[in-house]
Amino acid sequence: MKHYLKSITLVILILPLFMLLSCETEKDVDVNSEIREAEESEHIAIESIDTTSDKIKIGFSMDTLEEERWLKDRDMFKEAVEALGAEVEILAANGNDAIQILHAETLIDQGVDVLVVVPYNAESTAAIVDKARLSDIKVISYDRLVKNADVDLYISFDNEQVGEMQARAITELVPKGKYVYIGGADTDNNAHLFKKGVFNILQPFIDQGDITVVYDQWTKDWTPLNAFKNMEEALIANNYEIDAVIAANDATAGGVIEALDALGLAGEIPVAGQDAELAAVQRIVDGTQTMTVYKPIKTLTDTAAALAVELAKGELVIGDRTINNGKYEVPSILLEPIAITKKNIDTIIADGFHSKEDIYRQKGN
Ligand code: BGC
Repeated sequence: MKHYLKSITLVILILPLFMLLSCETEKDVDVNSEIREAEESEHIAIESIDTTSDKIKIGFSMDTLEEERWLKDRDMFKEAVEALGAEVEILAANGNDAIQILHAETLIDQGVDVLVVVPYNAESTAAIVDKARLSDIKVISYDRLVKNADVDLYISFDNEQVGEMQARAITELVPKGKYVYIGGADTDNNAHLFKKGVFNILQPFIDQGDITVVYDQWTKDWTPLNAFKNMEEALIANNYEIDAVIAANDATAGGVIEALDALGLAGEIPVAGQDAELAAVQRIVDGTQTMTVYKPIKTLTDTAAALAVELAKGELVIGDRTINNGKYEVPSILLEPIAITKKNIDTIIADGFHSKEDIYRQKGN
């Protein structure tokens, strides 16, 4: 039976590949080789969920597993869904729109009851939602909002508040001076919310003439390397005179701190990030990063899993507010983030997010 299911899945995966290959342009060649690479590196799971069981089936289409947090999201979501007696198929698209759409089609064809999506691209993922709706499958927008689409529910953290927490922590230390803002990926709605939050706090300082934002750029695909390049550019353009940096997440903060380190400036200039990644918390202990923002992933995964199962059972899920995604007011749930500095690292340890041993481990051990 398993082999039979596997063959069906392979056909589902391979058919669209043939269709794509038959009208190859240069871009298609790139996309197709990326899809092949992803298949080879097992980013496309061939193992299919058991379509004969009568368990509720949830499809989880993720953008990436690149940052540490997404591995927690993947594992904790699976655990939460299974604890509710349902099953889940998880596919991660490696930061590629075409692959994410293929994945969603695969999950829809497998007959999942609910599709949970972390969109790589806030706009183009609307196509996935439209396809799911055609098959009467409910869609949850997870952590990141899908724009201009009829998603049934959006569940995330209060991302504007994340940015506000970062800017509050840094303006307390540096109420006057030259600021650099290293944004996230322009394609991710969260990057815009984080930035909005930061500027909510910075604007009065800017208006008074106390703070000048001397550099403000998005970071393509959120990569530390692109953040490193942005930070180098910011330093050169400003004669190496920068007073504070706010980076949209810990991965980009890592790139920023490497660029500062190359000039012997790591630890000299306050830097904010968010995600409470282990490396970032270690940098806080070392004194090269000032703060991060902890988003309790388990609360997100547990809530999303419970609501996915409710939606699958046809229950009405209303959320605690609505958020306009450009098409309509999406029922939404926004969870509370927590600002973390050297003073309250214990909060993360108490929550079991990272162990004390890991945080205080000597580098290289
Ligand atoms: C998430 C962050 C994450 C970033 C890069 C954002 O949408 O909210 O937690 O660091 O994507 O993956």
